[in-house]
Amino acid sequence: MDKKYDRIILITGGCGFIGSHVVRHFVKTYPNYLIVNVDAMTYAGNAENLKDIEGIENYVFEEGDIRYYAEMCHLFEKYGVTDVIHMAAESHVDRSLVNPFEFVETNVNGTVNLLNAANCAWSDPTEKHVFFSMITDEIFGSLDKDDPPFNENTPLDPHSPYSTSKTAQYLFGKTYFESYGLPVISLACGNAIGPNQFPEKLVPLTIDRLMNEERIPIYGAGEQMRDWTNVHDIVSAIDILFHKGTPGELYCIGGDSCRTNIDMVRALINCFAVRTTKDFNEFDEKVKKLYGLITFITDPRGKSHDFRYDLDHTKITKELGWKPFYTFDDSVREVVDWYLNNQDWVNNVKTGEYKNWIDKYYGKEIDKK
Ligand code: TYD
Repeated sequence: MDKKYDRIILITGGCGFIGSHVVRHFVKTYPNYLIVNVDAMTYAGNAENLKDIEGIENYVFEEGDIRYYAEMCHLFEKYGVTDVIHMAAESHVDRSLVNPFEFVETNVNGTVNLLNAANCAWSDPTEKHVFFSMITDEIFGSLDKDDPPFNENTPLDPHSPYSTSKTAQYLFGKTYFESYGLPVISLACGNAIGPNQFPEKLVPLTIDRLMNEERIPIYGAGEQMRDWTNVHDIVSAIDILFHKGTPGELYCIGGDSCRTNIDMVRALINCFAVRTTKDFNEFDEKVKKLYGLITFITDPRGKSHDFRYDLDHTKITKELGWKPFYTFDDSVREVVDWYLNNQDWVNNVKTGEYKNWIDKYYGKEIDKK
């Protein structure tokens, strides 16, 4: 180990949405840790997300792909990695329905590559290590409107290629803990909201469409419900689990902010209208116009579209004192302001690949309306 640093943490997927917030937090909060960010720079990875920390001494970027075992083993050896925060994933449900293989390769094979590389590298039982694994609430399946939220004891019941691949990730972590004693800590988290999210997901897609006065596609009647957690609250949970979590355990976090999709879109529209109206005599007219962009389309997820996700964070609150700091309204304001102030960022990520996806996925139906 490089004696200069207390820990040498390999963070996978650090140029993505949540990953970039995790990298920045660890680099800035812990100058005594070396942070090695490995990212394959696929469509959702963006070097711009971490421009502000480039050149900081305890930060290194490595372009690399978790699907290649030898590449991962090489990084463990090169840096003497002591810990892993595994954030890299294919994460968009709609893409998983179009191309399930990519999800198996990255989320399942990639995870096993990392678990195995860590298990081989960390052979001294007297040394302390952590392998943090980022999972999703989608491993628990779907709730009805009045069901109690998911918790750590809810049976696994994934419904999409994405959630099934994340369930496999979780189970492989559990297996490496049980079979080899690898100190894997897993976090099941609800829908994230915050700056830097790639505009294929509901929140940034809606804001982007509002900025361009384009139709906003709502699947079905928009009645599905999601529990929205601020990305900064997710980062604080990861920090707490990394330092104080119990190896072998799964923890759930949520934002105490379960909303229907249509309510989320309305909240974004209202906030966007407040922020962008110069003459308040025109406010009502503007809101009406923006509501007119809402377009209900045939649900592309069909029967596999989970109705409700909601998470009970009692375990992590009681054991480790974590609870969400941001309210739903705080998060909506923050995210709308960020996208309004970072339109160049949005335009830069809307490359040919993004345009192809949007045109292919929504194009025909939304243009018909
Ligand atoms: P999404 O942001 O893709 O996250 P997840 O599928 O992981 O929950 O979608 C959130 C909800 O919004 C989900 O119920 C699907 C719905 N949705 C739309 O109605 N329109 C859209 O354009 C997108 C991307 C999602």
